[in-house]
Amino acid sequence: MANTLSRATGDTAIGEGDEVVITEMEHHSNIVPWQLLTERKGATLRWFGLTEDGRLDLSNIDELITERTKVVSLTRVSNMLGTINPVAEIAARAHAVGAIVVVDASQAAPQLPIDVTASGADLLVFTGHKVVGPTGIGVLWGRSEVLGALPPFHGGGEMIETVTMARSTYAGIPHKFEAGTPPIIEAIGLGAAVDYLDHIGMDVIHAHEQAITGYALEGLASVPGVRVLGPLDAASRGGAISFELDGVHPHDIAQVLDSRGVAVRAGHHCAKPAHARFGVRASTRMSSYLYTTPTEIDALIEGLHYTRSYFKVG
Ligand SMILES: Cc1ncc(COP(=O)(O)O)c(C=O)c1O
Repeated sequence: MANTLSRATGDTAIGEGDEVVITEMEHHSNIVPWQLLTERKGATLRWFGLTEDGRLDLSNIDELITERTKVVSLTRVSNMLGTINPVAEIAARAHAVGAIVVVDASQAAPQLPIDVTASGADLLVFTGHKVVGPTGIGVLWGRSEVLGALPPFHGGGEMIETVTMARSTYAGIPHKFEAGTPPIIEAIGLGAAVDYLDHIGMDVIHAHEQAITGYALEGLASVPGVRVLGPLDAASRGGAISFELDGVHPHDIAQVLDSRGVAVRAGHHCAKPAHARFGVRASTRMSSYLYTTPTEIDALIEGLHYTRSYFKVG
């Protein structure tokens, strides 16, 4: 069993008066840990706001990312708005002031080819279940000098070089971050998932994603009362499309679609601040992937027309 050490990753680098910069479109998993850390260290959390069409508002980048900034952490692709963010541009500013850039690639890794070394990231993470892999496991990539400088954040078996009753020394990267018996089954499953996507080709998957997203956006535009949250052009977004349908609650939409065999998600999609930005508590989200066909998108659009007539809106 691994014991959590009080010194979490990054703690050593962040102190009172320092700042961490995130964005208003983050998944809660890229908001809450920074809130916990900055509260504990007396540091300040700041964030990029969003434009009306669901992009990052970079107009105040030089005021947000300053000499006080220690970490800039942002998503490459929003799991709610679909927006693909200009990470390299933001990273250039972050690096100019000596900050570390953390990229959440959970929504990007399944959809886009990612060249980690050119991405601008110092640390890049993604979760397994979004790359057709298992839950409870993910990937952390980091530049070796960054990983090398970070202290272990879990103590336990497997992460040590040697242990005496007085003190311990730690294994090199990546082992110093992998305390305890690893999730072996999940790791094998994640490896198989990555091989599967690699075999199909991320370029092929990306092209399919763009085509099906464009088709879905056209279809959604044909339904009166639909408001897409996020960019309306397929080229600057991924295939997760959150929307509202005027006069119908997001969960009602999901239920009617479900009764017709169309699976969507309703709720806040772990992005409450982004919903608040657009004045809504929840939305309905369709998510396409490599297996989604135009016929399935047609079923969604027909289902939305049916939903309008069922609830007698319009
Ligand atoms: C963009 C994004 N980041 C982070 C996560 C968190 O993943 P997990 O809960 O597996 O850690 C998700 C989850 O689906 C996500 O969509």
